[in-house]
Amino acid sequence: MRIAHISDLHFGAHDRRVTETLISTLIELEPDLVVASGDITQDATVAEFVEASEFFKLLPMPAFVIPGNHDLPGLDLRRFIQPWKRYRDHIARELEPELQADLVDIKGINSARMILPSLNWAYGSISARQRHDIADFFAASTTPWRVLTVHHPPLNPPEFPLDVTLFNKGKFLETLGEQKVDIVLSGHQHHAYVETRIMNGHTTLFVCASTAMSVRIRKQPQGFNLLDFKDKSVRIELRQLSGDRFMTQSAVTHTKV
Ligand SMILES: [Fe+2]
Ligand SMILES: [Fe+2]
Repeated sequence: MRIAHISDLHFGAHDRRVTETLISTLIELEPDLVVASGDITQDATVAEFVEASEFFKLLPMPAFVIPGNHDLPGLDLRRFIQPWKRYRDHIARELEPELQADLVDIKGINSARMILPSLNWAYGSISARQRHDIADFFAASTTPWRVLTVHHPPLNPPEFPLDVTLFNKGKFLETLGEQKVDIVLSGHQHHAYVETRIMNGHTTLFVCASTAMSVRIRKQPQGFNLLDFKDKSVRIELRQLSGDRFMTQSAVTHTKV
């Protein structure tokens, strides 16, 4: 099974030329599924959500989408009254989708919040209810690979461009270890990254994608990740925009023991 992991599309702050390159690259690579790990829009406007929805319709493969902090209206009453209405109307009714495929079970978690115990609303949080949902979903899992996608990365290595707080991160990591999650797909940092960690005797790969198409680049150009799953192994390829092509920058292969 092949999954393309894209993130931080930021429609409204996107480079149309890169969007077209991404669409043609995805069509060429024929992934079975596209996972989009949040920040689908820049300012959560209706026009941006409509454009994002048209993008997903142009893709011939299904998309598994979760929201990010930019998909909430800003300092606007809508943020507090109907925080997810536009996202739900245009992208997906379900903020935390689930998918059981041949080789891979995928759980989506929404880490964006309309209110946080911080003035920085770009931070994220994971609740006890979400940790229980993760446990329930993976308790029923019988596939070789357990994948979770969440916008805010649970790890914060020094090479990341931003210092981001994910509230309740410690308990979240505990749950990921207890449930023997194999791969965590995130975004937010606009920085492609893979880290392997052993938790609870199980290897978990923390995979972050750069921004797929926005002009909001930080330390890296636009990019996305390609994951090829086999029964016992997965190959993760990090692709970066170079000229008018997404070129392979690096790749890691992980084999289950
Ligand atoms: Fe972003
Ligand atoms: Fe973000």
